Amino acid sequence: MARVVVTNRIPAEGLAALRAEHEVIAWEHEECISRAECLELVKGADGILTLLTEKVDAEFLDAAGPQLKVVANVAVGYNNVDVPACEARGVVATNTPRVLTETTADTAFGLMLMVTRRFGEGERVIRSQTPWQWGMFYLLGMGLQGKTVGIVGMGQIGVAMARRAKAFGMSVVYADDYDPPAAALEGLDARKVTLDELLRVSDVVSLHCPYLPSTHHLLSTEQFALMKRTAFVVNSARGPIIDEAALVAALEAGEIAGAGLDVFENEPAVHPGLLSMENVVLLPHLGSATVETRTAMAELAAANCLNVLRGEAPITPVTH
Ligand code: GLV
Repeated sequence: MARVVVTNRIPAEGLAALRAEHEVIAWEHEECISRAECLELVKGADGILTLLTEKVDAEFLDAAGPQLKVVANVAVGYNNVDVPACEARGVVATNTPRVLTETTADTAFGLMLMVTRRFGEGERVIRSQTPWQWGMFYLLGMGLQGKTVGIVGMGQIGVAMARRAKAFGMSVVYADDYDPPAAALEGLDARKVTLDELLRVSDVVSLHCPYLPSTHHLLSTEQFALMKRTAFVVNSARGPIIDEAALVAALEAGEIAGAGLDVFENEPAVHPGLLSMENVVLLPHLGSATVETRTAMAELAAANCLNVLRGEAPITPVTH
């Protein structure tokens, strides 16, 4: 029986799978674990389930100890995990792709609808009991039909966003260093373009790429200047892909029309300039937040951990 540490609360199904085979020490408190508590909790673990709020770096891995075999991140994004540091110690790291694809694309699409149709603004009118009346010109937004969505990062979530956009009568362009499998693009009529061209032609730019050194501040002053003044940006990927100060400046200058954000550069902090902007929709990182998806993520992370501890291949490794 191995020792598995779970550094934050996860759905019971994931814990039950782990408990069926191993001793499990799980953080059970409502509030997130602190760094010091985390470094203490992971001591002596053979396997660890982490959330994206934990930094899995050399200090973390060394605190766990040399017996550690696997870190299963309960997220598709693994920018919180130092993969080379894991590899140097022979620790397998895994993530949770696929199970959250549709839910995250729903979130991106929801943000696009909210910001282009000014739904957040409308809701604030009602909640603040501001007097209002139906009017021909009242709170008019931008229709999506016939418009172009530019998808930055045509991985599984990007493709799922493209499918939704196509169903709503939008044209799709995308930018990516990699080519998705041809089957994934079938029926989408999606055109691959450079990032600069994507920024010039899109009515909505939606980010679906991983956060890497090469995607840090991928959208900054220069890129916002390329966008149409009527265009919107949607980010359901990772906050630091956008230079948040540059975004605020572009919105203030009217260089772009609005933004829908589920993630922030210094999460959970949000740039104060965004808070009072009516043309901005702000969500607290809800991308994969459904009961079904979070359960599937916990189950996949548990299965990854169990496989490695049994000496079998992990299902979705990020280490080589
Ligand atoms: C959430 O942001 C994830 O990467 O799963």
